[in-house]
Amino acid sequence: MATRLIIVSNRVAIPDTRQHLAGGLAVAVKAALRDRVGVWFGWSGDISDQEATAPRRLKRGRVDYAVIDLSEADYQEYYNGFANRVLWPILHYRVDLQEYSRADQSGYMRVNSLFADQLDAIIEEDDVVWVHDYHLMPLARELRARGRVNPIGFFLHIPCAPPDILATMPNHEEILGSLVHYDLVGFQTDNDRDNFAHYLTSLGAKPVRSASFTLDGRTTRLGAFPVGIETAVYARLARNAVRSRFVREMVESLNGQKLMLGVDRLDYSKGIIHRLNAFDRFLEVNPEWRSRVTYLQVTPKSRGEIREYAQIENEVTTLISKINGRFGEAAWTPVRYVNRSYSRTALAGVYRAADVALVTPLRDGMNLVAKEFVAAQDPENPGALILSQFAGAAAELDGAVIVNPHEVEGVAAAIKQALEMPLIERRDRHGPMLARLRDHTVDQWSDSFLTALGETRQRPSLIEGLRAMFGASA
Ligand code: F6P
Repeated sequence: MATRLIIVSNRVAIPDTRQHLAGGLAVAVKAALRDRVGVWFGWSGDISDQEATAPRRLKRGRVDYAVIDLSEADYQEYYNGFANRVLWPILHYRVDLQEYSRADQSGYMRVNSLFADQLDAIIEEDDVVWVHDYHLMPLARELRARGRVNPIGFFLHIPCAPPDILATMPNHEEILGSLVHYDLVGFQTDNDRDNFAHYLTSLGAKPVRSASFTLDGRTTRLGAFPVGIETAVYARLARNAVRSRFVREMVESLNGQKLMLGVDRLDYSKGIIHRLNAFDRFLEVNPEWRSRVTYLQVTPKSRGEIREYAQIENEVTTLISKINGRFGEAAWTPVRYVNRSYSRTALAGVYRAADVALVTPLRDGMNLVAKEFVAAQDPENPGALILSQFAGAAAELDGAVIVNPHEVEGVAAAIKQALEMPLIERRDRHGPMLARLRDHTVDQWSDSFLTALGETRQRPSLIEGLRAMFGASA
């Protein structure tokens, strides 16, 4: 039987549903499964207090989607609680926002154990298992406890903070230390990988081979695998989408003004408040730009039951009203704010039509908006990208105008620079970034991760299976 790839993540992009999953994970995993035989297992997104017996399954092509509901208690303790009130803020360097409770930690462990029980019935001997993101850190330990010896890899889509920050999490060894049960742990950047290597060392792990560490009798390899996009596909999509009625109507509504774009999930890590303050400052010190630029902020909401998310929503809407009230005219609204997620096609068209993208997170694992914006541009007349130095993408996209999002004046100056950037400079900056994205696609990301995972095991049957899966590149 062919080696199957079992993908496990909290959210699953279930086909035939009209929801557009926000975030890079869904895009990357979809692409990883495109040419493979596999299973994508995770949470259905639904809450039900009926005891989960078996996952609901849906087969599309060579991929089997298997999802389970969570109970209200699981949803509160595992998802809203431990994953998003403890791990998310800490991994994003926001110790101040951590709200730890033992009940949430046990809910997190309980859901990981539930996932392991369900997966145990799905996984076959030759399968390769690839677990995604912070919701599922202890999953490999749970699977090992059930006797699973398959190769199991983990990829962290979000940043990894330095050891002193990680250590502020109560019982951190139990959660973060459990990552050693994976054969390979992947990060977005060298910096994230090095932070975790230092953390493991602080727990007493010993380096064994290059990039591998041993702790409590388990050896794990660490690596940086910056996630990419389907560059050529996305560029084609954008070329076509810009002619769609949706984009044409939006462009017409601008009446010849420049379009500056922000696209972010509503999250405190995205720096939306800092960015709005910078736009406010920009309009204050550059009156000649008033009525000549519109800033469109597309911001789907998520995690609305968590206090910090409700707070950020209020702060953002209040600040936008202030800016619109302060600078707006009867015929000009400086900031347009949309709380919905658009389809991939519609967004690609908006990216293409935009003159400037503002991607200024306070901390971000990668940020695929930055990459998709670059891929969507017309190489003959590209828009300019303003990018935070704290996004993983900054390590690759050095043609962007790189900013520190904490410096309002600096971002305001970058907005002016980007809006006024001559065509020749825009082309000079864009060309090498696009070339980089063409060389480092999402396919290359998944191939290199899975090849590295295969290398962690020397079983010949496994290597053969991986070769069959990836062809010559394995
Ligand atoms: O990687 C970032 C991430 O947390 C993904 O795991 C997730 O799919 C996405 O952001 C959106 O977050 P949520 O699923 O909590 O709405």
